[in-house]
Amino acid sequence: MNSEQHWWQNAVVYQVYVRSFADANGDGVGDLAGIRNRVDYLAALGVDAIWLNPCYPSPQRDHGYDVANYLAIHDEYGDMDEFDALLAEAGDHGIKILMDLVPNHCSNDYQWFVDALAAPAGSAERARFYFRDGRPSDDGADPHGNPPNNWMAAFGGSAWTRVAADDPQWYLGTFTPHQPDFDHTNLDVQQMFAEVLEFWFDRGVEGFRVDAISPVGKDANLPDAPPVADGTDMLQVTWENPFTVFRPEGHDVWRRFRQTINDYMERHPGRDLMMVAEAYMNGRPDLMAAFVNDGQFHQAFAFDLLLSPWVKSEIERAIGDSLDIMRIGSTPTWTLNNHDVQRVVTRLGRASATDPNTVTNNALVVRDSNVDVDVGERRSRALISLAMALPGSLYLYMGEELGLPEVLDVPADRREDPVFHQTNGERIGRDGCRIPLPWTDDPTSAFGFSTVPSDASAPEPWLPQPEWWGQSAVTELDGVEGSTLELYRELIAARRDHATPQGLVAAVIQLGDGLVAVRRGDLAVVTNVTDTAIALDMSDPHLSIATPVFASEGAEMHTPGVIPPDATIWFVS
Ligand code: BGC
Repeated sequence: MNSEQHWWQNAVVYQVYVRSFADANGDGVGDLAGIRNRVDYLAALGVDAIWLNPCYPSPQRDHGYDVANYLAIHDEYGDMDEFDALLAEAGDHGIKILMDLVPNHCSNDYQWFVDALAAPAGSAERARFYFRDGRPSDDGADPHGNPPNNWMAAFGGSAWTRVAADDPQWYLGTFTPHQPDFDHTNLDVQQMFAEVLEFWFDRGVEGFRVDAISPVGKDANLPDAPPVADGTDMLQVTWENPFTVFRPEGHDVWRRFRQTINDYMERHPGRDLMMVAEAYMNGRPDLMAAFVNDGQFHQAFAFDLLLSPWVKSEIERAIGDSLDIMRIGSTPTWTLNNHDVQRVVTRLGRASATDPNTVTNNALVVRDSNVDVDVGERRSRALISLAMALPGSLYLYMGEELGLPEVLDVPADRREDPVFHQTNGERIGRDGCRIPLPWTDDPTSAFGFSTVPSDASAPEPWLPQPEWWGQSAVTELDGVEGSTLELYRELIAARRDHATPQGLVAAVIQLGDGLVAVRRGDLAVVTNVTDTAIALDMSDPHLSIATPVFASEGAEMHTPGVIPPDATIWFVS
């Protein structure tokens, strides 16, 4: 284990989906000024950093993951002065800012891509992307009528789009036709991303969450993908393609990024910058180790807990696999939620959550609305109480501290996610975890999301809020003993108390059926994943001299030696 300590190694990072966090100018869309108004709230929660989902200029066809300019702020969200003001305000509270970097693709509105479309085949403009000649159409009438290969897009349909009926070429977009993939072997692309990193570091950003790393780097020949197994979900096909997923070529890209960061830090002593990789490498600690090392990413999200069913062996595996990354000197990066998956309360509230073979948390797939929200909330409280005790950093997704469930019934005509539209509504997509946050129980201000004059009503927010949304508002939970918001505040503080270097060593231990337990320094944390109370064997060496210091269901801590259903207790010896 690397003994050197960096701020990000055990940080609590709060993910702000900018469009949905807080709307200061009353137009129904979240903005940077809205975040600035709420920095006090984030400071009181105790977070170390904020990760901003992409807030660059964008036509918002994938809500910012289609960047039209990497060096500016989207006008609905504010401008560069507003960004600087947010950085300063956050900095005054000791909160760092991470940006979201999207290297795999840009928007089809990005000037380079506009130029590429206007330029001929073989031009320098097209060389920055993947433009290739099409293959003959099935009837042979059009020599370029079929795509260059059989690759499928992650959000539905072919991954190729023809430039125009009279153009022989097609371009590659791993996600949607609005998101053309960059070719990172191109020198212009390499230089552009180095400049982007430095631009934001100069501004004061401390790091990046790097989006969608798995398809970056392709087999240079772009061969047809082999057939997938029968029954493979249509939105999973892309991720089975060995010629574009987790390619060796990708490592060169991350080594260059890391070099840029290292060089920058050398020129700016005192800066402690980082980048965290987004890729679903659950169950593949070996793969994660290949990306997370001195020459590449500082960290990679451990999505295992976010995907795990509520089953002892699966949770233990998720924790064990992620702890494995410590072997090579990195630290795990836990998370239970993000803007791409169904909220944990809903996921764990499904009857299927206790089925070891359940279809996991994939918002692109799961439609089942048979959810017991109370059970889900209790399990999520137990799970976050377990996760908070683990070594490494923890990424929270806005609103999870309010116990928000997924909103499953967003009307079809209000759905915004390209996943919904690209699949013609066959997949509901991710809007349900992106509903604008409830700050108050007042529906006339979109539950406090929008700041509006006292005599005016807020416009309808960009995604509709359900009428019961106010029940989970910040004002309803703030200061209320046992509320989920207070639980999060307490946990973040408790976690800090136990973040000693010695506490960085952790291991899964066995305390009995139905119990997931982790030992970390003087802390033993036990989660009951069953629906009945379990009496602990207090003579177990891990518990014999231990005192309970924290419980996810506070009042229940007082029955010594008994752990309530779906609950977590921290013991200190
Ligand atoms: C982001 C998604 C986005 C996709 C394409 C992901 O992994 O988290 O929100 O749609 O990349 O950029």
